Amino acid sequence: MILPIVAYGHPTLKKVAQDIESSYPGLEKLIEDMWETMYGANGVGLAAPQVNKSIRLFVINATPYAEEYPETNGFKKVFINAHILEEAGEEIEINEGCLSLPGMSEEVSRKPKIVIKYVDENFVPHEETYEGFIARVIQHEYDHIEGVLYVDRITPFRRMLLKGKLRDISEGKVDVEYRMIFPALRRK
Ligand code: NI
Repeated sequence: MILPIVAYGHPTLKKVAQDIESSYPGLEKLIEDMWETMYGANGVGLAAPQVNKSIRLFVINATPYAEEYPETNGFKKVFINAHILEEAGEEIEINEGCLSLPGMSEEVSRKPKIVIKYVDENFVPHEETYEGFIARVIQHEYDHIEGVLYVDRITPFRRMLLKGKLRDISEGKVDVEYRMIFPALRRK
């Protein structure tokens, strides 16, 4: 089932999400729905807060980037209760977009290397190190479960320039091919 994606300005996007237990009701179905929702919107990652669930869950399939970044080929994972333990290296700028912010993308600076611990969909624990583009996609999704959006990481000046565009997104004045919930939608 395709779930509506919450747009910029929705309060759930600002919350620090909570760890969950393996007994979390409907978890398997939620993960399945998140894959379907992500693919339906042509995304490479989707975090639970984007479907209005404030829990530490995100899914990534970075394969569409395999031509540009070969390490992404076949990278498909579910991250539950993720916690980044370490970020290292000199910050680099990469262009990021987000399904909650349709029609825009910005250069975002982040460190290139991370160590992350999480459990997978079977609640098997992992501790892994990632670099390059995969690290970037994980950092973006991880931000969502920390209540952070990439536009929180750009300069205040740049954000000021984007103010009108961000307001339009939260009011639903945007062309988008997938179902969304707009927090500031004004009904006529
Ligand atoms: Ni995003």
